[in-house]
Amino acid sequence: MRYSKIVGIGHHVPETVITNQYLTTVMDTTDEWIQERTGIKERRYMDPAKDTVANMAAKATRLALQRANLTEKDIDFIVFATITPDYFFPGSGVLLQRELGLESIGALDIRNACSGFIYALSVADQFIKSGMYKTILVIGAEIQSTAIELSTKGRNTAVIFADGAGAAILQPNEKPGILSTHLHSDGRFAEELYVRDPGSSRPREERQPEQILDTTHFKVVMNGSQVFKHAVVRFLEVINEALEANGMKKEEINLLVPHQANLRISQFVQEKLALRDDQVYNNIMRYGNTTAASIPIALSEAWAEGRIKENDVICLAAFGSGFTWASALIRW
Ligand code: COA
Repeated sequence: MRYSKIVGIGHHVPETVITNQYLTTVMDTTDEWIQERTGIKERRYMDPAKDTVANMAAKATRLALQRANLTEKDIDFIVFATITPDYFFPGSGVLLQRELGLESIGALDIRNACSGFIYALSVADQFIKSGMYKTILVIGAEIQSTAIELSTKGRNTAVIFADGAGAAILQPNEKPGILSTHLHSDGRFAEELYVRDPGSSRPREERQPEQILDTTHFKVVMNGSQVFKHAVVRFLEVINEALEANGMKKEEINLLVPHQANLRISQFVQEKLALRDDQVYNNIMRYGNTTAASIPIALSEAWAEGRIKENDVICLAAFGSGFTWASALIRW
């Protein structure tokens, strides 16, 4: 049997640190409110002079390759999870392929928001298991700072979302590796967390820039309490689903790396599963919610800090816009 294994993990975040204190100068909010409700202390915003989603992903990739002792030329497929591609089309996967100087390998974009990295990992896992590819680059990367509304009107989302990139390299192995992935969605809740425009399902006259720019164009709409209620239920469900599918108990998880949606959500999940602090990794305090990038950034930092060792059982779990939710159980 052929399995896939993560052989390298890396991340990159922009240099510019945006503190809660800074946000109090552009909107009616406080450091206390943000920390108490979300756990976030600071986040990173891109520098328009040098950062793009694709080049941040390239920097994360180079770190992952270096840690895996591989080079760009080893990569034979890219799966790129983002909801904030550099262009409306084509996707950021091809821009990364160009940035890495790779010729004609396939590049696939995944648009599953906060669950995007686990969806991408699952797709890559199937390609490796089937024997189609040998070295797959899986990316989660976002630039959200250019879309959020930095004013009191947008404060319920502006304080949460931020920028960053993470990369994982997958290769075949005789032993797992990725033990399982579980993917879910429920589109009945699509409009509870969404960006309406530039959507295609508008009459032509409503799609003209002057019609949509001030109202719905790139405006994040979030029903925070609904997202919270569903997130805590689905996180627990999908983690338990992964454990049951592998005949494992929660005590066997060495490290849970949840999507960094909100520290309160992670803490709720930790409490319900009765996991110790050393069994859960959180870095939302430093980076905010970086959507598809949050899990690979957290994995990369946890690995660098020595929190992930060979043979450890690592559980990834995510919930977000769609709604979508997903988990991956990995023997490192
Ligand atoms: N600073 C200060 N006050 C704020 C604020 C901010 N940044 N954002 C919202 N408020 C205000 C609201 O205007 C509201 O004021 P009002 O009572 O006078 O109307 C009050 O705080 C409470 O708003 P509400 O939206 O009910 O707050 P909440 O307790 O639900 O917390 C979230 C808001 C977003 C922190 C919370 O709903 C949440 O964590 N949801 C999950 C979001 C999430 O994880 N999203 C990512 C999913 S991937």
